[in-house]
Amino acid sequence: MKLSTRKFSLSVSGDCTPEGTTLSAEVYLGRIERLMELAENHGFSKLIVYGDREHFSNMEYLTGYDPRFEEALLVLAGGTPTIIVGNEGADYCQCIPFPVNALVYTGFSLNGQPRGSVSLSDILCQAGIRSNDRIGVIGWKLFSPMDGFDLERTLDIPSFIRDAIEQVAPSKNLFNKTDLLVSNEYGLRHNLEAEELVLFEQCNTAVSRKVLTAIRGLRPGDSEWAASKRFLLDGSPTCTHPCVSFGEKNASMGLASPQADSILARGDIVSIGMGLRRANVHRTFPYVSDGAELTGRYGEDAGEFLAAYFEALCAWYESLRIGTPGSEVYEAVAKVLHPLKSYGVKLNPGHQIHTDEWTNSMSYPGSTVSLRSGMALQCDIIASRPGSPLLGAHIEDGVFLADEALRARFAEIAPAASERVRKRREFMREVIGISLHDDVLPLSDLQGVGFPFGADMDTIFVRG
Ligand SMILES: [Fe+2]
Repeated sequence: MKLSTRKFSLSVSGDCTPEGTTLSAEVYLGRIERLMELAENHGFSKLIVYGDREHFSNMEYLTGYDPRFEEALLVLAGGTPTIIVGNEGADYCQCIPFPVNALVYTGFSLNGQPRGSVSLSDILCQAGIRSNDRIGVIGWKLFSPMDGFDLERTLDIPSFIRDAIEQVAPSKNLFNKTDLLVSNEYGLRHNLEAEELVLFEQCNTAVSRKVLTAIRGLRPGDSEWAASKRFLLDGSPTCTHPCVSFGEKNASMGLASPQADSILARGDIVSIGMGLRRANVHRTFPYVSDGAELTGRYGEDAGEFLAAYFEALCAWYESLRIGTPGSEVYEAVAKVLHPLKSYGVKLNPGHQIHTDEWTNSMSYPGSTVSLRSGMALQCDIIASRPGSPLLGAHIEDGVFLADEALRARFAEIAPAASERVRKRREFMREVIGISLHDDVLPLSDLQGVGFPFGADMDTIFVRG
């Protein structure tokens, strides 16, 4: 396969005017209602949702409250929901835009802070949990048969919280129901609303522009740390650690934070990207100026490796449409990068995203998971050529699947965002050569844009 490129200078920059900021009470209450209907269908009328700083998304999806540095529980037991928080959450939970019973369990607070004498089990009783209830507990992890645990009974919450629940209801009444929110088949967080799509588009636009600015600013002699300042981070919460890695060792770690003593040199492999909640954009490329420098540094097969990677990326995008089984998305990539192992692909080619960066993945061999309207997906294919020097490729951006009704609602409430999506689709089709189905809404200003020569930002991959 031959490397195919063209000269093209992207002309995006700056911020866009937000058409949405926060979700309304109606959106959250609608989610709670749908969750309780789904829970009823699974035989549960009471749910306890766990959250902490890292595992905040399920609780935030239902309330807008994301635990900062304390644990928190949301109890849905009929009637007004109850949120149980620590000392500092007591004020912060005012961000919930609908009526809740806010109760403080001081044991969720940081070490050494003032403590009260009310037990968590008493608070759970107050929230409506009873001894004979069949209780669905929502943490964040879906256990697999390969993990060696009872899939239904194993809870992924701190043991002190489980102990408190068991002081109210016996262990035999507790079930892991995280699936209600993140199951590939019916998880509610894979069926998002137009209002959420507006936030997705804004966030992806912002992140893609930040990453482009950072890539454009790269110069030999930069440290990773100095280069990371060009992300121009604002106060928005991130969903991944910002990453800038230069050279074989640091880039191969994948997740490392920028180092002040790692300096960019011509020919280095560069891994660079960042995410805010609802968006993650990443690029890995060789920092060379042209094809001759590429093959001089990485060998004669370097162009072929990058060409195959880009063709697989195009095949991934073109496989997407509502109703397609996840196996077809997987196979679209696996057919081009065959076998996947020889291209260093270790993870699923693509996954779902929400406010946390990876909720689940529908893309695996034999997957019967149907792509659904309201699903947010990451084109996330990480490849590397075995051997040295390390040659890697990673072009990650997000899309949103939307049927005609969802697209119409999106255009109605966010016309500027809808127009950006239209222009991106046109760009992908006419400049890059990727035919996106109408169901697929490109959210990033860098959607499908790859830089085969990182020191030349005016050359991009195109379909061969
Ligand atoms: Fe990802």
